Formats: sequence, C-alpha cells, structure tokens
Amino acid sequence: VAEGPIKVRVAEGEALVCGGRCGRGREFVVVAERAVTIEAVDRLRLQVWEGPGSRIERAEPTIPAEWRQVEEMMASGGVAMLVGPVDSGKTFMATYLANRLLERGVRVAVVDSDVGQSSIGPPATISMAVVGGPIMALSDLEPKASYFVGSTTPSGHLLPMVVGTKRLVDVALREAEAVIVDTTGMVYGGPARALKLYKAEAVRPDVVVLLERQGELAHLAGQLEALGVRVLRLPASRWVKPRGRAERRALRGRAFQHHFKGRGVQEVEVDLSRVRLVGAFIGTGYVADELKGDLEAVLGAPVDYCERIPEGVVVVVDGRPQLRPALDVLRQRFGEVVKVLRRGFERGLLVGLLDAEGLLLEVGVLRSLDLARRVARVAAPLRSVEGASALKLGSIRLNEEFEEVERLEPGWL
Ligand SMILES: Nc1ncnc2c1ncn2[C@@H]1O[C@H](COP(=O)(O)OP(=O)(O)O)[C@@H](O)[C@H]1O
Ligand SMILES: [Mg+2]
Repeated sequence: VAEGPIKVRVAEGEALVCGGRCGRGREFVVVAERAVTIEAVDRLRLQVWEGPGSRIERAEPTIPAEWRQVEEMMASGGVAMLVGPVDSGKTFMATYLANRLLERGVRVAVVDSDVGQSSIGPPATISMAVVGGPIMALSDLEPKASYFVGSTTPSGHLLPMVVGTKRLVDVALREAEAVIVDTTGMVYGGPARALKLYKAEAVRPDVVVLLERQGELAHLAGQLEALGVRVLRLPASRWVKPRGRAERRALRGRAFQHHFKGRGVQEVEVDLSRVRLVGAFIGTGYVADELKGDLEAVLGAPVDYCERIPEGVVVVVDGRPQLRPALDVLRQRFGEVVKVLRRGFERGLLVGLLDAEGLLLEVGVLRSLDLARRVARVAAPLRSVEGASALKLGSIRLNEEFEEVERLEPGWL
C-alpha cells in the first residue's frame, strides 16, 4: 500500500496497481491523500520517491482472495452493484474490478451513485463514466452522463436516487458490457433499507456484492435473494482506511470547490419562458398578481410575486411575514400547500441545468430568480445554456466559496 505524495517506478518485474497491470519501466504518481495498492505479479522491485507525509507499507495481500469471484462472474459482462456500510471499500473495489475487467478485454463503465462522497462528477449528482484505460481512482474518470439529485444525502431524495441510478445504468449498458455501480454507505434504517432494496429492484443487477465485516448485511442479503437478485457476500478488506465524518465533509466541500473553481465559473442568464423550472412547486403555476393586495393584508409584508398552483399558492415576500394566523387563513382559502418564501431565498441554491432527456448538462449555483421577469441567473462552468430544457432546483445551499452551508428540507420549495 502506497500513500501519496509518492512517485513509483517499476524497476523490475510486474505489478498490479489497484488491479491495473504495470510493467517494467512504468512510472506513476500518487498524489497526497490518495493511496493505491501495489501487488507483485512476480519478483518485484520498485524505485520510489517519497514526498512529505507519504507512506509505503509492505503488507500481506490487502485484496481478499474471495474478490476473484466477482471478477469471474463479470468477465462475460453484466451489472454489479456494490453495497456496504461507510468505509467498507466499495469505491476501491469498483476501481479494482474495473481495472481487472479491462485487462480481460471487457468494456467497462462505472455508475457512481454516491451523492455524498462522489468520485465521478460533482457531489449531489449520479454520474456514469466509461473506463478507457487503467485507473488509480474512480475520480480519474470523466463523467459521460449525469443525473441531478440535488442533495448530498439520499435522505428525502430516494426517488431521484433510484431513478437516476437506473437511467445511468441503462445509458452505461449502451456503451459497455460490464457496468459497476458504486453506492452510498447508507445501509441501516428505514430510508437506507428502502433505497438499497428498490435500487436493486429497479436496476435488477446480475449481482449485488455485499461488503461486510461480520455478517452485518444479512438483512439485505435475505430480502434481495427472496426477490430473485443474486447476492455475493464478500469480506471487506482489513486495509480499508476509515474516514471520519469531518474528513468526509471536508472532502465534499473541496469537491464542489474543485468542480466550480477548477473549471472557470461564469454567470449565465436562463430564460425561464424557454427553460422550465422543475422539482419544486414554484414556477409550475400561473402568476396571480390580482391576489397580491389580499396576500399583503394577510401576511403583513409586501409581496414580490405570487403564483397559484392547483394545491394552493406560492408567495415571495419582502421582509418578515406574520406566519402565525396567516398560514391557516391561506390554507383555508387556497389549499393545503402554502409556500411563503422570503426575498433572496434562492441565493446559493444548487441547481441542475438539464437537457431535453432530463439528464444533467451542468450543475450550477443559483444567484437570482426573478419570476416576474422570468429570468434566472446561474453561476456555472458553462458558456452557454443552449440545449438546456429544464432548471432543477436542489436542496442544498452553497456560499460564495462554493462550500455547502445549508441543507434544506426536501420539498421546502
Ligand atoms: N482492499 C483494500 N486494500 C487497500 N486499501 C483499501 C482497500 N479497500 C479500501 N482501501 C482504502 O480505504 C479507504 C476507504 O475505502 P473506500 O473504497 O473509499 O470506502 P467506501 O467507498 O466503502 O467508503 C480508501 O483510501 C481506499 O484506498
Ligand atoms: Mg465510496
């Protein structure tokens, strides 16, 4: 196991680097905070240049022998879904398996459905990539297609998680014979169980690989098998390096920054009469200026904008409205769904610009949403919004530095 920053040269023999073959004379660099496994195929001599804080450790094999079973199973193609708790080595296994299959001449694609610790594409999205050559990490891959979930946790977003994964697996199967699906570490509790169960039911993978330490995924194994989904229970490697909650959060913060800052953000104007708002109540009704006066009287605040929806009303107010009796009054009058939003509510919301197939063109940060004039301003690494058909509102907020600063209740808009 080699932890960066480190440069390695295969001086003699042959190595498998994260499962990818590296012959004599080959050199590779492991950047800081990354680690790779190096297995000797035969007698192996390495020349290394160690950077500050790097580590190279000689260990007994860190890849459990049982892992070969997945490789054999997938050698003729198919879909494998990798499931396990946080820090069970799912992403590493995806990398390893991709390299092993590639070497056997199989065309491989990876679907990364971990919206929190995204490897491919930015967080809050599910992405698909085709593996063109040996990789040291999934994050080396460029997304080929993505689906916008809009949150860095699947909680409250189970539908887009399931639909997005299924759609990208379908896209991947057009490009590759073997598709590896990486997943979030959510495996315990009601929503987690539902997510894993229905994701597997939607995708119907050829095999669900459960990475466990002590049989802790028996609850999933039993249910999946009963539903006719093949399950392979494999031991997690003892070499998994656990990441704390704080580290995961930091990684996520940086992932957004990397995505936005590294690619030159621009502010683009989106014409909402051509690009529809989706995923929220707002922007789906009809403007009802005639209600403004009444609403102002009930709410005790100036109304910027209001919109009638079949279930109720959406109002944007300037200042602090009196919600106490007002909400009840408005519910009685218009219907159960009364959304009272304060001016500026949109600032910093993560959004997805989608194409006419509902797939993601680019993620962005909403700067302003002027519903009366029907324009939105979005900061995104995008030159033009041509081809955009929908603007999907997410439920996290980023600050000017593209750090996640707020998680909003799903359905709040
Ligand atoms: N079989 C293994 N051998 C060596 N290191 C591993 C192995 N599996 C995982 N790791 C390391 O442990 C860390 C966490 O693994 P990861 O695959 O990201 O876990 P998960 O995706 O389940 O959260 C990574 O740094 C990874 O390189
Ligand atoms: Mg992972």
